[in-house]
Amino acid sequence: DLHSSDTGTVEREPDGLILIGKEDDIKKSQRITAKVNGREVVVFYHEGKFHALDSRCYHEGGPLCLGEIEDINGQACIICPWHKYRITLETGEGLYEGINPLEPSPTPQWQSKGVKQRIHKVTIDNGNVYVSPPDLSVSFDSDYFADKYKNSGDLAM
Ligand code: FES
Repeated sequence: DLHSSDTGTVEREPDGLILIGKEDDIKKSQRITAKVNGREVVVFYHEGKFHALDSRCYHEGGPLCLGEIEDINGQACIICPWHKYRITLETGEGLYEGINPLEPSPTPQWQSKGVKQRIHKVTIDNGNVYVSPPDLSVSFDSDYFADKYKNSGDLAM
């Protein structure tokens, strides 16, 4: 890296990644919020895995960092505290409970609306947790609220 100083005291960071925190700390706290290129991102540690998502819900911008995690058909989902939308941690898919009226005795089933919430790639390196900068050539519904709350000071709850 041509731009690093050669004092030898700078910690090596994987190229282009944004440092979120220490692996051990996030494993203990189970979640942490951070700014990634100005946008509010939340990193969860859940059942042995790290997941990073835009923290502002794709519906109306609710704070997912304050939501509870629930298992739906084997998929860990964050429940938005504002209107209880379910979003999968692994893929950012919005789930809804729908019925097929053509079935003889319709029962609600969880279904996917597709990827609504931007997820971010997490990298663990040398005891540190990093998130990759978002690829803005692809857009997601949550981008609107990520922009709206960009660079805002506090998390408005
Ligand atoms: Fe998240 Fe409405 S803002 S469910």
